[in-house]
Amino acid sequence: MPRRSLIAFLSLASTLHIAVADAVFNWPDPLLSTLDDALYRPLFSAASTFALNCGPRDNSTIAAQWLRLAYHDAATYDVTTGLGGLDASIAYEYTRPQNPGAGMLESLVDFAVSPNEYVGMADFIAMGAINAVIGCGGPIIPFRGGRVDATEAGPATVPEPQQDLATHTAKFAAQGFNATEMISLIACGHSLGGVRKVDFPLVVTEDVSTGVQTFTPPPTVNQTVGFDNTLVHEYLDGTTQDVLVVGSNITTRSDLRIFSSDNNVTMNQLADLNTFNEVCVDLIGRMINTVPSSVTLTDNIEPFDFKVWNTLLFPQGGSLAFLATLRIIENGLTGTVTMFWASRSDSGSPCPPSGCSVPSFQVSPAESSFLATLKGVPSFNLHSFNASIDLVSSISHFWFEVDNNDGSAPFVVDNNGKNYTIDQDVVLFDPRRSSFTIAGQFIVVGVKDPATDINVTALSTVSGSSPIPMPSNTVLQLKLDTAHPPADGYTFYTAPLPDAVLSNTIHATVNGTAYSEWVPFLSAPGV
Ligand code: HEM
Ligand SMILES: *[C@@H]1O[C@H](CO)[C@@H](O)[C@H](O)[C@H]1NC(C)=O
Ligand SMILES: *[C@@H]1O[C@H](CO)[C@@H](O)[C@H](O)[C@H]1NC(C)=O
Ligand SMILES: *[C@@H]1O[C@H](CO)[C@@H](O)[C@H](O)[C@H]1NC(C)=O
Ligand SMILES: *[C@@H]1O[C@H](CO)[C@@H](O)[C@H](O)[C@H]1NC(C)=O
Ligand SMILES: *[C@@H]1O[C@H](CO)[C@@H](O)[C@H](O)[C@H]1NC(C)=O
Ligand SMILES: *[C@@H]1O[C@H](CO)[C@@H](O)[C@H](O)[C@H]1NC(C)=O
Ligand SMILES: *[C@@H]1O[C@H](CO)[C@@H](O)[C@H](O)[C@H]1NC(C)=O
Ligand SMILES: *[C@@H]1O[C@H](CO)[C@@H](O)[C@H](O)[C@H]1NC(C)=O
Ligand SMILES: *[C@@H]1O[C@H](CO)[C@@H](O)[C@H](O)[C@H]1NC(C)=O
Repeated sequence: MPRRSLIAFLSLASTLHIAVADAVFNWPDPLLSTLDDALYRPLFSAASTFALNCGPRDNSTIAAQWLRLAYHDAATYDVTTGLGGLDASIAYEYTRPQNPGAGMLESLVDFAVSPNEYVGMADFIAMGAINAVIGCGGPIIPFRGGRVDATEAGPATVPEPQQDLATHTAKFAAQGFNATEMISLIACGHSLGGVRKVDFPLVVTEDVSTGVQTFTPPPTVNQTVGFDNTLVHEYLDGTTQDVLVVGSNITTRSDLRIFSSDNNVTMNQLADLNTFNEVCVDLIGRMINTVPSSVTLTDNIEPFDFKVWNTLLFPQGGSLAFLATLRIIENGLTGTVTMFWASRSDSGSPCPPSGCSVPSFQVSPAESSFLATLKGVPSFNLHSFNASIDLVSSISHFWFEVDNNDGSAPFVVDNNGKNYTIDQDVVLFDPRRSSFTIAGQFIVVGVKDPATDINVTALSTVSGSSPIPMPSNTVLQLKLDTAHPPADGYTFYTAPLPDAVLSNTIHATVNGTAYSEWVPFLSAPGV
């Protein structure tokens, strides 16, 4: 099936309730840029790699731990106040008696190195739930971003197995799910993992060699448990080992009370695998999109056809070096791409009206994530450009021309008709003069001469660590860099970077004007 129709087909299943459009990427958009990399490039985030193949951890699976983490985070939502929901408040709550389990902190630590100034932990917890489900063979849940991290714990509203049906029904109603949806969401969630004796000694009363009474039996070959409706079938035919259904402690048989609460009508419907998958896509999707009413989520983030990635503009050897990469979805064609740019000023050696241009100097294949492959994106091609730009006339915007060399007309890629605009060339991150080695990490920023009233700072996002692995921001004050004398019309400023720095945004005031530049990656490959 071609990619477009495959995506159309897959998204049909997810539009049961509200049709959400696909997000449009207008460069630079740090939020969408970060989330797209995290979703569709492997190794850009733990959330898209660690749970692959339903891999084991603590005799359960990483996927099970991530899905439970997402639910327990979302379960603080209150429909009447619009507060709580999936906001990473679980980082301040996992020590509560209602959130036991080593998997909670372990999962938070998995995600701790992924956030930056624009994307918080909550988006990675939500992304983790999606990758948990596909990692165990389940269906694709669409991803929307833009969650906002809480700064403190929410209310203690996570359901516990000894509570009665009325309490559970009320809790799910407060979280935005009716009684039917409660049954389904739990049947979806308890498709993975199980109950640990160490966490619930009064629930798991018998000895289990692994310490975990899984909801369904693990396949004999692998330890891992798949995301499917095995639990539903085993519940209906009376063979289930789910300790929340058949455990000897009747008080904690919460799954039994809930599953049978509508005379098994919903469980019988979920016995059909297509129905089960559709319902789980819808309900887990709603669960991860349960956010405070003040938060607006992005549209669905599908792999972008064209993505400008990792641009760098800095003074070097008598000109401005401009490095850019255009990411194109692999399409079986050996296209050639030319980058064009326009001058910022008519002084110096300005570009002709048609633009200055360079061909790409390198086309390298780049792997796509498992989620991307499920969406019909087999890999990407990275077209890299290295332009030498006149120091005086400089650069105001750039765009690309793609020739697929298949007889079709070349076409322009210009940021949806807006051009890729370089805001300014007054304050520039300098990857060549900066250093990111373990021996010494410092950032160097060039400020265009002549200038007065110079104040250069950087907002540095630093990874959190146990016991509360939430990122934090710190402001660095850059000082005149004595190691790098003025050159090419720029004066350089520097500051040491904190340990565990994840990303930086430079903010500067020069001549009374404010400038900023996002520096997404610490090391700039190929520089
Ligand atoms: C009345 C509602 C619920 C109750 C009482 C409940 C109870 C439990 C209990 C007692 C455990 C064992 C945890 C441990 O041993 O550390 C568990 C595990 C789990 N729950 Fe729930 N749960 C509920 C709803 C949900 C929902 C809505 C989801 C997700 C959609 C979910 C997903 C999971 C997963 C994936 C595990 C396995 C975790 C692992 O193996 O590490 N649960 N649940
Ligand atoms: C819950 O909502 C669904 C979808 O709107 C509906 O089909 C179902 O009947 C509702 N269940 C209850 C118990 O209200
Ligand atoms: C069953 O679980 C409840 C709630 O955790 C507990 O209070 C009770 O003592 C347990 N009963 C037995 C027989 O272990
Ligand atoms: C996993 O199970 C093995 C026995 O199969 C047990 O020795 C080990 O302690 C268990 N690990 C955890 C983390 O529960
Ligand atoms: C077990 O895992 C391996 C590696 O992930 C996989 O190739 C194999 O198909 C799995 N076997 C079963 C029975 O699931
Ligand atoms: C629901 O199904 C379970 C498992 O088969 C069974 O034990 C129970 O009696 C059923 N409940 C009703 C009300 O049909
Ligand atoms: C984009 O750049 C081209 C070439 O410089 C220019 O002709 C066009 O007007 C620009 N479009 C916009 C929307 O700025
Ligand atoms: C700062 O102001 C001075 C004096 O007006 C001017 O010459 C210079 O070009 C300005 N520099 C920048 C970077 O704006
Ligand atoms: C420089 O900017 C930072 C951040 O905005 C501010 O805290 C600091 O006071 C400024 N320093 C001067 C000398 O203006
Ligand atoms: C870009 O070109 C310059 C000048 O030709 C060269 O010194 C530099 O190493 C090149 N950079 C990359 C990343 O290819």
